[in-house]
Amino acid sequence: MDVNIIRCARTVLHVRDLEASRRFYVEALGFIETESDGSHLYLRGLEEHCHHSIVLKKKAEPAVEALGYKVSCAEDLDRLAAMFSEKGHAVSWLEKGSQKAMGRALRVMDIVGLPLEFFAEIEPAERMLQRYDLYKGARVQRIDHFNCMVSDVGAAQEFYQNELGFRCSEYTNTPEGDVWATWLHRKQTVHDVAFMNGPGPRLHHIGFWLPDPLAIIHACDVLASMGYGDQIERGPGRHGLSNAFFLYLRDPDGHRIELYNGDYLTSDPDFKPIRWDINDPMRQTFWGHAAPDSWFEEAMPVLDIQTDKPVPLNPGKLKQHKPTFVI
Ligand SMILES: [Fe+2]
Repeated sequence: MDVNIIRCARTVLHVRDLEASRRFYVEALGFIETESDGSHLYLRGLEEHCHHSIVLKKKAEPAVEALGYKVSCAEDLDRLAAMFSEKGHAVSWLEKGSQKAMGRALRVMDIVGLPLEFFAEIEPAERMLQRYDLYKGARVQRIDHFNCMVSDVGAAQEFYQNELGFRCSEYTNTPEGDVWATWLHRKQTVHDVAFMNGPGPRLHHIGFWLPDPLAIIHACDVLASMGYGDQIERGPGRHGLSNAFFLYLRDPDGHRIELYNGDYLTSDPDFKPIRWDINDPMRQTFWGHAAPDSWFEEAMPVLDIQTDKPVPLNPGKLKQHKPTFVI
């Protein structure tokens, strides 16, 4: 389809306590608070020149409302709506002005039950990259990717590649040759979205870019100093797959945030996707240390765009492997 999806660009998360969220995201992670009201926080990273990349909405239960992608123009939204409707997917429109700082937005349920949002227009905001005097906490720079646990990775990969124009940078195969996990991109990095086999659809984590590995080490010090040591779930470490230098955190509501660095360029048309065997231990942690069970088992529910209820889970289609070999 002739649609130009630019990149993963924003997410809407439900949280229970905005003050707790503000302390974690603004004070500890260093997001810029663009705007807020009694029920929303709108946050952006230091280099982001748009109003926000993350919306935290005060609700009774934590959940994921939408995973947002920016497209190049309004016509792309119409083309996407036609395609999703033709294939029988739920589609809804949010008109300009119905969401803070947002132009017209299209919401759809994708092939594996994830609530997606596409938009072409968002209000600009001052880019703070060189306001070093305002840097604090983990000094988050920008949103980088979504990672989702889904029941049928093969179906997701096929849909995102064939219908939405994503390209694969890296993937994990089972001994039987099935795709256990896949990293797909629109911008010229390793990924905008990754899919992993497991009970889903659920959001596993949102990745945010930090400038270098030392920034991630500094983030650990800041988090520990603020009493968030228990919320460091995994890392710091390096994934073999994607070369990511990572730190995984849980926010006050359990949403998993990855602080991420180590990406590489995937622009060339002759770039060949990198294959990993699921039983290669260097794939998940290059240095060899194991990940906690929670990292493999826990992820956040996503909401249906029409009912606002959590989307029921389906089990992972592929046979479960030993936890330390899952990703
Ligand atoms: Fe990630």
